[in-house]
Amino acid sequence: MSSKKVLVSGGAGYIGSHMIELLLSDGFEVVVIDNFSNSLVKKINPKVTFIESDIADLEVMKNIFTNHQIHAVFHFAAAIEAGASMTNPGAYYRNNVANSLNLIDLVIRYSPRSHFIFSSSAAVYEAKNDLLKEDDKKNPANIYGKTKLIVEEALVDCAKAHNLSYGILRYFNACGSDWQKNLGENRQVESHLIPLLLRFLNRQDIEFFVNGNDYQTLDGTCVRDYVHVKDICAAHLKTLNHLENAGDEKCFNIGTGRGFSVLEIIKKAEEISSKKLPINYKKRREGDADSLVASNELARKVLGWQPEFSSLDEIISSAWKWEKLLFKQKNL
Ligand SMILES: NC(=O)c1ccc[n+]([C@@H]2O[C@H](COP(=O)([O-])OP(=O)(O)OC[C@H]3O[C@@H](n4cnc5c(N)ncnc54)[C@H](O)[C@@H]3O)[C@@H](O)[C@H]2O)c1
Repeated sequence: MSSKKVLVSGGAGYIGSHMIELLLSDGFEVVVIDNFSNSLVKKINPKVTFIESDIADLEVMKNIFTNHQIHAVFHFAAAIEAGASMTNPGAYYRNNVANSLNLIDLVIRYSPRSHFIFSSSAAVYEAKNDLLKEDDKKNPANIYGKTKLIVEEALVDCAKAHNLSYGILRYFNACGSDWQKNLGENRQVESHLIPLLLRFLNRQDIEFFVNGNDYQTLDGTCVRDYVHVKDICAAHLKTLNHLENAGDEKCFNIGTGRGFSVLEIIKKAEEISSKKLPINYKKRREGDADSLVASNELARKVLGWQPEFSSLDEIISSAWKWEKLLFKQKNL
C-alpha cells in the first residue's frame, strides 16, 4: 500500500478509468485531468481530485504540479482513432505531440523527481507476421502511430538531458472490462472492434462491417493481440515499481504474444452472446496493418508482469457483460 500522489491524464477514458480504480485500491492518492473530449462517463470516482480541463491549458497543468506533490504521471490523454488521424492529422499532432511535449516540459520544470509513464502503442511498429520485439523496426502505418513514436523519441531525449525517470508502455489492443466496478469502453466515438461488434449483437442499432478481407493473414482479416485492460493497468504498477528501483529498461510491449483475426473474434463473440452475425465486408481502411502481435518476453522478465485476465473467453465475456450493463443504464 502507498500514500503517494499520482496524476492520471485522460482518467475519464477507458484505460485511465480502470487505472484509477487500481491506484485507489493500492492506496495511492489520485489527481485526474480529462476534458471529456472522448468520454461519455458521467461520474468520476469521488475519491480522486478531479480537474475537468484540457491538458493543453498550461496554467491548469502548472497549478497541478505546484499544488500537489506528484510522485508519478500516467499520461493516457490522447486522440486515439487511427482512421481519423489520416484525415485530420493536425488535430493528432496537436493533441498527441504538442500537448505531450508541453506536459513533459512541465514535469521537468516543476516536478523533476516524478516518474513519467507514457501510453504508447503497437501502432509504432512496422507490421510483421511474427512476434514484435521492442527493438523491431518502427514504421507506423498511420499518423496516430507516428504521433506516438514522435513522443517516445522526444521523451527519451528530454529524459536523458534532464535525468527524468520514464517508462514507455506499448499496448497492443486493449479490451475487456471491469464490469463489476461499472467500468468499460464508453467513448464519444467508438471504432474498436469488440465494443462495436458486441453492441451490434446486443442492440442492432449500428451498422457492423469487417474492414477488409484481403490482408496477408490466414483468413484475410487483420490479426491483433488482444490484452485485457486490467492486465494493462497491472503493467503500469509494475513499471512504476521498476522505475522506483531505478531499473534500466524503459520500454515494454504489453500484449499476450497470441494473435486473433477479426473472424476469430466474431466467432467467439457469437459463441458467448449466443447470437449470430451476418458478416458484411467493406474495403480495407487506410492505415490498418496486417498483423500486430507482441513478444512480451521483456515485460515478463524485467517487470515480472504476465497477462492474467487476457484469455479470449475472459475478454469477450467481460466486454459482453459490460455492453449489457451499459445498454441497461442508457435505458433507465
Ligand atoms: N485502447 C487501446 O487499444 C490502446 C492501444 C494502444 C495505446 N493506447 C493509448 O492508451 C491511451 C488511453 O486509451 P483509451 O483507449 O483509454 O482512450 P480513450 O479515448 O478511452 O481515453 C482517453 C481520454 O483522454 C481524454 N483526452 C483526450 N485528449 C485530452 C486533452 N487534450 N485533455 C484532457 N483530456 C483529454 C479523453 O476525453 C478520454 O477520456 C491513449 O494514449 C491511447 O493512445 C490505447
